[in-house]
Amino acid sequence: MEKTIQVNSPDGTYPIYIKTGILDSMTHYADFGLKTPPLVITDSNLESIHAQAFADKIGAGCAVMPAGESHKNLATVSRLYSDAIRAKLDRSSTIIAFGGGVVGDVAGFVASTYMRGVGFIQIPTSLLAMVDSSVGGKVGVDLPEGKNLVGAFKQPIAVYIDPAVLGTLPPREWGCGMAEIIKHGLLADETLLDPALHHLSRAEELVTRAVQVKVDVVQRDPYEAGERAHLNLGHTFGHAVEHVTHYAWAHGEAVGFGLLAATMLSHRLGLCDESLIGRVEGIVRDLGLPIRLNGLDPEAIYAAMFTDKKWASGKSRFVLIKGVGMPTIVENVAKDDVLAVLSALS
Ligand SMILES: NC(=O)c1ccc[n+]([C@@H]2O[C@H](COP(=O)([O-])OP(=O)(O)OC[C@H]3O[C@@H](n4cnc5c(N)ncnc54)[C@H](O)[C@@H]3O)[C@@H](O)[C@H]2O)c1
Ligand SMILES: [Zn+2]
Repeated sequence: MEKTIQVNSPDGTYPIYIKTGILDSMTHYADFGLKTPPLVITDSNLESIHAQAFADKIGAGCAVMPAGESHKNLATVSRLYSDAIRAKLDRSSTIIAFGGGVVGDVAGFVASTYMRGVGFIQIPTSLLAMVDSSVGGKVGVDLPEGKNLVGAFKQPIAVYIDPAVLGTLPPREWGCGMAEIIKHGLLADETLLDPALHHLSRAEELVTRAVQVKVDVVQRDPYEAGERAHLNLGHTFGHAVEHVTHYAWAHGEAVGFGLLAATMLSHRLGLCDESLIGRVEGIVRDLGLPIRLNGLDPEAIYAAMFTDKKWASGKSRFVLIKGVGMPTIVENVAKDDVLAVLSALS
């Protein structure tokens, strides 16, 4: 199911190429339409398994940041500016992000600010980056005060997705990307909920469908004025669980749980059919993602929801579902209803 998806953004149209083996077929930076050598930015895990060899092959420089969310910060950005100077990048140059969502967000932020902005190409290598972070143009870094507090919108020249690189992805990272794919399925494409598709051998179709859901949403709402909020399905519960566990639960694990909790809350408020709860629980469990709080305190999770920047007004706000493909936003949900769901999942 090889495919090119065209994305209409406020800054013009760009393609997302999805094809197994597409990176093997690119042998020189000119194949990316570039006239001067780009700089590949990657992380310390990907450097040896894919990125350095890829950069050498296409005739690009390679800058490496330490892997992990804890390095998604301004200190890393500053070092990468120096790497870009050393690589003699000028205003007409291009930066290629080669890695997961951390690399994409950091490299995109560097590309949006270095010399007031240079060209940017995304090569997402984690399942999450392919279906979520590489689409939509949001880039940025964390501050000590919180995640993603500094950033920009930076649309890429193009996105190249090669599902073949997923062969080296650790199983836990696969599960985390699948949580976002299930979210996309619940929002807009029931096919994505079919367990038969949840395998590496089906990654091209899986990724293509999931990318299409996110593209459709961000095209209709490029600057997060409204509908894009639907992409937070499961994330209000999820962010709170991440916070309470001090990030011992990975984002995708918390989102998987959050999707189940959001479905239960939807049913409790009379929005969706009870059968959807069992369905979501089965899918989340089969992906190896947590479906119970395993000792976490519901009250602590409820309290953490109010530190979520999306509730700045102090008013609770949940993305819930009336059924597959029917998201809806509900405000001022009663504390008792939220706690009842969390207690049932304890
Ligand atoms: N910009 C957005 O719209 C957006 C949306 C969602 C998430 N994000 C951000 O994305 C980040 C999470 O992304 P992530 O889950 O990809 O994290 P990540 O970049 O840390 O990658 C996860 C791990 O997998 C490794 N990895 C990636 N691809 C691999 C491969 N093919 N083989 C082997 N190892 C591989 C990485 O080195 C890392 O250790 C967060 O910082 C989050 O804020 C951004
Ligand atoms: Zn997410």
